Amino acid sequence: MLALKQIKALNIEMSSSCNGKCPFCSRDQKIRRYGNFRILLEDFKKLPETLVRQLKWISFAGNFGDLSSNPDMVKIAAYIKGLNRDVVLGGDTNGSMQSADWWASLGKFFRDGTMEFAVDGLADTHAVHRRGTDYNKIVRNIKAFAGAGGVAHWKFIVFRHNEHQIAEAEKEAERIGCKRFFVIPSRDYGGELQKPEKIEFQIKRDIFKTYDEKLSDSDTRATCKPISNGSLYLAADGTVHPCCFAHCMYITEHNSLFDFLPPLAAMYYDQINFKTTPLSDILKGPYFSEILSLSKTNSYCRMKCNPFRKTVKKELVLIDKRF
Ligand SMILES: C[S@@+](CC[C@H](N)C(=O)[O-])C[C@H]1O[C@@H](n2cnc3c(N)ncnc32)[C@H](O)[C@@H]1O
Repeated sequence: MLALKQIKALNIEMSSSCNGKCPFCSRDQKIRRYGNFRILLEDFKKLPETLVRQLKWISFAGNFGDLSSNPDMVKIAAYIKGLNRDVVLGGDTNGSMQSADWWASLGKFFRDGTMEFAVDGLADTHAVHRRGTDYNKIVRNIKAFAGAGGVAHWKFIVFRHNEHQIAEAEKEAERIGCKRFFVIPSRDYGGELQKPEKIEFQIKRDIFKTYDEKLSDSDTRATCKPISNGSLYLAADGTVHPCCFAHCMYITEHNSLFDFLPPLAAMYYDQINFKTTPLSDILKGPYFSEILSLSKTNSYCRMKCNPFRKTVKKELVLIDKRF
């Protein structure tokens, strides 16, 4: 059974809304209704203070939204750092909503963490993939965030239409105050979003498959995240899951190998919401115990959460520069 004191990390979807319309986003694969949800400060305060004080890191990433569409984001970061100044905050964002002042206020809480800004090209190419977002606003916001001491990383997803701009984008990243510039492949290619011609790589799904085939019989158990990392995923609607894949699978049913998950989530969805049920009860309840047991031998869980997980992540990074 999972206990609150084992939890050292949270991955939180602060909002399920986003101004971006990125073509390969999971938002477009929903088969269940998942509207506009936010975790507001009053919701966040329902998490036990003892939990917030014991956390080592919090990542404000999420499957479906963008943290900057949460009106309480800065207040929540301040509340967390007020309780636990050593917790490391991280996040990823398209960076094109909110004002420069808003980003400067947030940057103060990310001096020892990182914010990954998704910038897939320069002014003339960025929005080919990051549809609905504005390159110039992102650059302005990165400068404000970094100027306030926040550690900003520039994440560049490479396509045929932007591969010629990598060197220039790297210089721009350093100029505007980023501490890292890195290039990764898209999870998919197609239509006007074609594969680059000059860079050789495998897409994430194929790297995972290659490593999965290498797993020997003795390694075939998945290392489920709440157990291996002490981490949990909080979705913007308040539901709590062992990992982001679990919630994404329930909303999108994107992979038949993970088919044990949707019936469990459907059965327990009302009982796993930290906005209405104490987190310790959720962790002790049947949703978590059943997933933790079934995940051990599930092939999707093994493919995503195995001893090679960190190696796969590293292999995905095609260019990596620190400033
Ligand atoms: C819904 S987004 C959440 C954060 C934020 N809205 C953003 O765009 O960065 C989830 C993640 O998917 C990533 N993503 C979006 N399009 C992608 C693509 N084509 N290939 C790989 N990752 C992608 C984003 O960079 C982000 O890390």
